[in-house]
Amino acid sequence: MRTQVVIIGSGPSGLLLGQLLTNAGIDNIILERVDKDYVLGRIRAGVLEHGMVGMLDEAGASDRLHAEGLLHDGVNLAFDDRLHRINLHDLTGGTRVTVYGQTEVTRDLMAAREASNGVTVYQADAVMPHDFGGSAPFVTYEKDGAAHRIDCDFIAGCDGYHGVSRRSVPDGAISEFERVYPFGWLGVLSEVAPVNEELIYANHKRGFALCSMRSMIRSRYYVQCSLDDTVEDWPDDRFWDELRRRLPERVAEALVTGPSFEKSIAPLRSFVAEPMRFGQLFLVGDAAHIVPPTGAKGLNLAASDVHYLFEGLREFYADKSTSGIDAYSARALSRVWKAVRFSWWMTSMMHLFPDNGAFGQRIQEAELDYLVHSRVASASLAENYVGLPY
Ligand code: APR
Ligand code: PHB
Repeated sequence: MRTQVVIIGSGPSGLLLGQLLTNAGIDNIILERVDKDYVLGRIRAGVLEHGMVGMLDEAGASDRLHAEGLLHDGVNLAFDDRLHRINLHDLTGGTRVTVYGQTEVTRDLMAAREASNGVTVYQADAVMPHDFGGSAPFVTYEKDGAAHRIDCDFIAGCDGYHGVSRRSVPDGAISEFERVYPFGWLGVLSEVAPVNEELIYANHKRGFALCSMRSMIRSRYYVQCSLDDTVEDWPDDRFWDELRRRLPERVAEALVTGPSFEKSIAPLRSFVAEPMRFGQLFLVGDAAHIVPPTGAKGLNLAASDVHYLFEGLREFYADKSTSGIDAYSARALSRVWKAVRFSWWMTSMMHLFPDNGAFGQRIQEAELDYLVHSRVASASLAENYVGLPY
């Protein structure tokens, strides 16, 4: 079998790239390790930058997003028992973010791919990229016990942090940069009305908390927790009580609680692999970088990677020019590192670090005080939060 682009991974990166390629008449096949329901069962973040919305518009997969997504003009920081609103719309000249779950983005992209007869091989085992350093790359995989080979022009490694693509790069050809944070996020989904119309990021001496949502009847909450914790350590009552303790009193009083139907603990890390291109293999999204969710950048960085790679591939097939794909890694990494910095900064400012000590606590307090009382500082947070230009 032969195609122009093999995409490894059917997460947001792979699906978005696949849809753009299909719409541009560029043949592609997605190879996915698990089944469709497993992909859709992943609970991930839910804040879309305006650039991501534009990419979904371009892919023709944004109708439900525009119908059901929640437009937010602002975001709130909570500390010293008070809410401080950052007016994103005002500070960025009219830009806002859209709250819409990643699961729904994935669902919409899968529907678009099926409608355009895109080929996705689910439960593809032992996917392996080959000869991507030369001009005749190919990918092998197994399905129902049968071995398969797909010859192609390019391979897009959209297979996430634990995928095979990055691990297939020759030793010494890749540099990795990482920071692991000494805590995790315990996340809960519950069919209750959100405590606030906009998100609340809370800095508290007991630890960080985040109030988010999926809709006006489904809330998403997080509390910073120990990496030694398990979800069994956190029955609903303990979670709701701890969340209340970390929020301003007025907000805690308004909190509507209910049974959780999803509860999980995620570790936090910052990670970047350089470069993001190896011959005809391109790393995209989580395959190349991971950010702590504090800045809501993971899904949005995948979108800008896809933008740069798609533009390069479209140029190659239209004009036989390689300038776009040759520039992919540098262009993507430039935006990746700015988002990694912002996510690290938000995480450093909002969380309780065991080793920070009294000095570190005062620095956090000074950072927050300066941030909410300086229009310039607030504007810096706002332009990073809504998304820097592609
Ligand atoms: N072969 C085939 N598919 C694989 C393999 C493999 N060896 N390894 C992983 N995959 C699949 C996974 O099953 C998953 O569906 O690749 C997909 C990778 O998807 P994501 O991990 O969601 O990564 P990405 O598409 O880049 O999306 C980034 O998703 O993880 C969140 O926070 C992240 O919001 C960000 C976004
Ligand atoms: C979420 O809604 O899951 C969410 C929102 C903002 C973040 C992280 C997660 O920064």
